[in-house]
Amino acid sequence: MARITASVFTSHVPAIGAALDLGKDKEPYWQPLFKGYEYSKQWMKDNTPDVIFLVYNDHATAFSLEMIPTFAIGCADSFQPADEGYGARPVPVVKGHPELASHIAQSVIQQDFDLTIVNKMDVDHGLTVPLSLMCGQPQAWPCPVIPFAVNVVQYPVPSGRRCYNLGKAIRNAIESYDEPLNVHIWGTGGMSHQLQGPRAGLINAEWDNKFLDRLIAEPDALANVPHIEYVREAGSEGIELVMWLIARGAMSDSFDGPAPKVKHRFFHVPASNTAVGHLILENQ
Ligand code: DHB
Ligand code: FE
Repeated sequence: MARITASVFTSHVPAIGAALDLGKDKEPYWQPLFKGYEYSKQWMKDNTPDVIFLVYNDHATAFSLEMIPTFAIGCADSFQPADEGYGARPVPVVKGHPELASHIAQSVIQQDFDLTIVNKMDVDHGLTVPLSLMCGQPQAWPCPVIPFAVNVVQYPVPSGRRCYNLGKAIRNAIESYDEPLNVHIWGTGGMSHQLQGPRAGLINAEWDNKFLDRLIAEPDALANVPHIEYVREAGSEGIELVMWLIARGAMSDSFDGPAPKVKHRFFHVPASNTAVGHLILENQ
């Protein structure tokens, strides 16, 4: 059977992708940020999974106000890096895993979560920046990736509780796939940031760090936090953090297993307008 061995959590700021693509990552502004991912890149090399199930949000790139799926699973063979208005990022094509993705769609929909099935989709910085942070600048990404897009852009967006429970359903799905695949699940986006309005530039490092503490130690209680708290404390785009609960719900301790081991924790402000948070958790 397939197994979820680890979860990875990271912010996805587009300027991080631009810094890498334009060779600015050694500049003083960016150095401390990329230093926080050195451990992670080595860890990815030492623990390369067979598949990454990557929870992220599309930023009105593949979808628009014309069509807004709450949860969309990418079942295609491959996904092109999107042109977000300044040309596509010069990063590898994302290879999918249609067999596992279709199995997850079947299983999760039968567990009463209504997923949208996507057979053609370009992927924006929400997906490619986390891959760049964790893998650097390879010729090809190290393994297939199943993109899982969550609407956190246009209200109504899903609650933390629904995301956490969905993570459990995704775990059931993956662990009932009849092939011994090593799967990582990633939760991306956040941390505190607000990109518009009078509070633009808001960062709340104290709340972010408490979120990291609680994500590690008490995810079930953290799933009760309502939208309004994310928006009030972490800014309008801080709501992206609900996606981290999907990945966290798929870990063993959500099923009475042992608590995961914290392999790495990193926090840095600012990157562009955003607080950057990062965790690597391994199932025991
Ligand atoms: C920024 C952060 C985001 O999460 C995003 O999607 C776009 C911009 C920023 O900090 O600039
Ligand atoms: Fe974003």
